[in-house]
Amino acid sequence: MYISYLKELVKKVEKTRPRRLYQDFPRMAPHECREVVKKFHPDYLENGFQTLKAGGNKGDRVPCELAELLEAHSRIEHIEIDLEKIAYDMDVLIIGGGGAGAAAALASQKEGAKVLLVTKLRFGDANTIMAQGGIQAADKENDSPALHYLDVMGGGHFTNIPELVYTLVNDAPMIIKWLEDLGAMLDKADDGTMLTIHGGGTSRKRMHSARDYTGTEIMRTLRDETLNRGINVLEFCPAVELLLDEEGKAAGSVLFNLETEEYLIVRAKTVILATGGSGRLHFQGFPTTNHYGATGDGLVMGYRAGARLAFMDTIQYHPTGVVFPSQIMGLLVTEKVRGLGATPLNIDGDQFVYHLEIRDVESAAIIKECSYKKKGISTPDGTTGVWLDSPLIELLHGEGTIERQLPAMLRQFARFGINIRKEPILVYPTLHYQNGGLLIDKYSRTSIENLYAAGENTGGIHGRNRLMGNSLLDILVFGRRAGFHAAQKSKEIKLKKLTLEHVCQFRRQLEQNGLETESISPLLFPSYNHHETVRSLKCN
Ligand code: FUM
Repeated sequence: MYISYLKELVKKVEKTRPRRLYQDFPRMAPHECREVVKKFHPDYLENGFQTLKAGGNKGDRVPCELAELLEAHSRIEHIEIDLEKIAYDMDVLIIGGGGAGAAAALASQKEGAKVLLVTKLRFGDANTIMAQGGIQAADKENDSPALHYLDVMGGGHFTNIPELVYTLVNDAPMIIKWLEDLGAMLDKADDGTMLTIHGGGTSRKRMHSARDYTGTEIMRTLRDETLNRGINVLEFCPAVELLLDEEGKAAGSVLFNLETEEYLIVRAKTVILATGGSGRLHFQGFPTTNHYGATGDGLVMGYRAGARLAFMDTIQYHPTGVVFPSQIMGLLVTEKVRGLGATPLNIDGDQFVYHLEIRDVESAAIIKECSYKKKGISTPDGTTGVWLDSPLIELLHGEGTIERQLPAMLRQFARFGINIRKEPILVYPTLHYQNGGLLIDKYSRTSIENLYAAGENTGGIHGRNRLMGNSLLDILVFGRRAGFHAAQKSKEIKLKKLTLEHVCQFRRQLEQNGLETESISPLLFPSYNHHETVRSLKCN
């Protein structure tokens, strides 16, 4: 429930609403976009980053919190591990139990591979289920993969790796059909055609959704299919290090069983990293939309084993994270809310940015409005945000639209006495997505032989800025590709002797470069200090 001074401010929003109903706010010119991003986006805050001192990306700029983990001690540095005591001997080992891991598991098993999927939490407890708004695919008559390609490249400021984007957009229509065939219930009109809307930076309405819990519906479908097909899944067993063979090729992993606290050796002919993102590292103190396990584990293990990283200096801050009430601070207010017409407004009830600019531009504009222009709204908790005028949606699309299209959002705010059909929402950018990650090619191969990667722990597809709905798409496109190619490759591989020599080598490199640290990685679980996570929301 909004307290009285916020209720007074809501009246200003109500006053400007009729005008906004009929008048579109102008989009920024390209040079204005560049300027606001450079001045206000957290990617450009110098002291949020440091350069790596060791490893294949030595000299590259990465967020400080991630650098600390990439250059930390291994969890197993002082542990006796018997590499001959093999607990599982597999064709394909998949590390990660989100959408990319599940898609990879289904594709590998279809190719006849003996597959094991291991995951840190429960199978499905991943960023995939947190995805709300939709999945992009150019499958309508007025659209094409070529247009989708241009949008993705434009969204990424033309820094994306073209081959990966080409693959993404061309596989997209097939992915939607695959999901439907597996039983995913995507939104449709009465005549059976898919309902699609715009996201930021889309030139066509190609956002397919399952209300505002698209990721949950997709994960439900993939998880059911994986379990129904009898694929082996090990829960609560995070991978803590990759294993290589004597030729330096990926050959398995060391797992840590969280329940028994035992280390387990998995030998595998090929390995797929699908551990997701790193939002729980709370870069620059930002709150996050990410699930509890998003601590960048795959990046750490891959890097220590010698895999190349790309685009690690660019992080996505979703423009609209909840800023009030504080109990749900940082959680996602899906872009679908803006896709349906809700506009961002300052303390005077005035719109200050087009509602569907691409994400880095929209976020930077909100940060500017709060910090530089001092036109943000202070919350009772001392944080600052802007209004997102959700009641506009039903004026544009008719009564009942919010209940039909955003039922989870409606309920989430109703729990705190806020009716988003009648009252606007308070939002501020929140840490949402890691644009960079392990460098892959169109077959999902990393720079280490027999090591594949898919999903948010990869980098290059989205360049320096991802568009909404292309993450649910990329986990499936590249998850399936990783699964297929890893399974094919496994057919020609003979299992060899396992080694952890790369862990010692990396340690030596750190020492030679004078790096002293007490940190241990992969982190596995975030360490919480509430004050750190709210810091950045105070805009002054
Ligand atoms: O706003 C959203 O629903 C988020 C979607 C995405 O990041 O793709």
